[in-house]
Formats: sequence, structure tokens, C-alpha cells
Amino acid sequence: MTLVSATEMINKAHAGHYAVPQFNINNLEWIKAVLEGCEKAKSPVMLGVSEGAGKYMYGFKNVVDMVRNVHDKLGITVPVAIHLDHGTFEGAKECIEAGFTSVMFDGSHYDLEENIQKSKEIIEIAHSKGISVECEVGGIGGTEDGVTSNGELADPQECAQVAELGVDFLAAGIGNIHGIYPADWAGLNFDRLKEIDEAVQGKPLVLHGGSGIPFEQVHKAITLGVSKVNVNTELQLVFAKATREYIEAGKDKEGKGFDPRKLLKPGCDAIVNQVVEMCKAFGSADQA
Ligand code: 13P
Repeated sequence: MTLVSATEMINKAHAGHYAVPQFNINNLEWIKAVLEGCEKAKSPVMLGVSEGAGKYMYGFKNVVDMVRNVHDKLGITVPVAIHLDHGTFEGAKECIEAGFTSVMFDGSHYDLEENIQKSKEIIEIAHSKGISVECEVGGIGGTEDGVTSNGELADPQECAQVAELGVDFLAAGIGNIHGIYPADWAGLNFDRLKEIDEAVQGKPLVLHGGSGIPFEQVHKAITLGVSKVNVNTELQLVFAKATREYIEAGKDKEGKGFDPRKLLKPGCDAIVNQVVEMCKAFGSADQA
């Protein structure tokens, strides 16, 4: 199967009351491990690429080529979309040209009028090429690619206005944050999520900051319209832990274990396992 737009997989998840995972990718190892995990779980997947990760991987075109090549080499059969995460207006256009099958335009830091106008333009260009679009209303807290936004609760009426533009799925702040949740985090705001879900009249919603949210809260969010959950930090944590344990176990004795293919393997295996676990928790396992 070739890479696909995310519209169909997200609509199926919305109708079937589960969430498609977006796992962010950062390099070749991440691409391979996430694809292997989702194939093992028989789950559809969106590979999220931030603009910073795109730069790190030598540009969006190279990311598309790497994903396609690894995808084909592994013989992946589950639906896979390659998706720009928190894109700028220019970045979204660039990814559309580079062969992404889905883009997020994050205009949440503009005033509503400008967010609407720019979202509309990206939706038009992307849809003319069969590419799905995610837009955002209300900043998600925490730090993403060095940019920090204050967490806020999105305004349901503003969400309705952006949903009406024909966006395929919508990210809205409901108390979620990127990165590690503080010990005194208040949890997701389900009252606000319910209001947003009613206002957008069946538009699938996206939960950012999916690392570390208790699974019961994710399940409840899915009953209120969430059909996609984004995960980045969690994979970094399991990768770092497994790599540290490998080094501390002294496997690099005589210098041999420093071959990067050996050094990075425990971390990649840990990502595969974490991906499988999260697909099961989000209900997307066995849906492909
Ligand atoms: P986490 O890093 O908190 O998992 O958030 C990922 C995300 O929302 C990417 O858009």
C-alpha cells in the first residue's frame, strides 16, 4: 500500500470510537521502529514531522523519500499517512509540494480572522491534491520545537468557525500540554471538550500532548469526539531509558558495542513495544 491521506483512517476511527495514533518521527531509526510497531499492532498510523525534525532530516523531500523507502522495504500493509505537525503557512505549502499526504496548519497564534483566512487557503490547496488537513484553535501548552505556548481552553464557537471551513480534523486546547505533565496537572477539561464536540457537529478532534495522559482520560476523550492522539515525548523517554541501560550494562566492553547499529537497537526495540502498547490503549490495534 502506498502512503495515504489521513481522512479515511480518521473518519473510520471517529465512527468506530477509537483514535488513530500520530507518532512523531525524528530520524531513520524512528521511522523504522514506528512503522514496525504499527504493522505489529495492525494499526493505521500518522507519522508526524515537525518543521524542526524536517530540517534535521535534511528537508521534507528527504523525509518523504526515507519514509517511502523504509515503508516499501518493510512491506508495510497498514494505512500510513505522512503528516506535517504544527506547520507554519509556508511550511504547509512546502510539505504539500514535497509529497506529504497530510498537513497540519497551526494558525492558533494568529487572531481568529487571520487563522481562518490562512487555514482556508491551505485547505483549498491541500484538498485539490487529495491531502488531508488539520487546523488548530487555542494554543496547546508546553514546548514544541522550542516554541512555548500557554495552555488554553479553545473557544467552542471559534472551533465551529474553523470546522466549517472543511478542515478534516481539528486540534483544540482542552488543558492538554506537550511534554511531561506536571505533578499538579488538573487533567483534561471534559466539560470544554463536550462543548467543542457539540459545536463542531461531528468533526473529528485531535488530542495533542498524548504522552503521559492517563489512558482512562484518553478513553473518555474518545467518547467525546477525539479520533487522533499525538505522541512524541513518550517515545523519546523509552528510547533514552533503553539506551542508558544498554550503556550502563557495559555492553560496549572492548569498544565493540559502540557500533551505532548495536547501540541504538535496544532503544528502537523499546519504541516498537511502546507503539504497540499505545495502539492497544487507543483502540487502533487490529483496526487496519
Ligand atoms: P507529546 O510530546 O507531549 O507526546 O506531544 C506530541 C504532540 O502533541 C505533537 O504535536
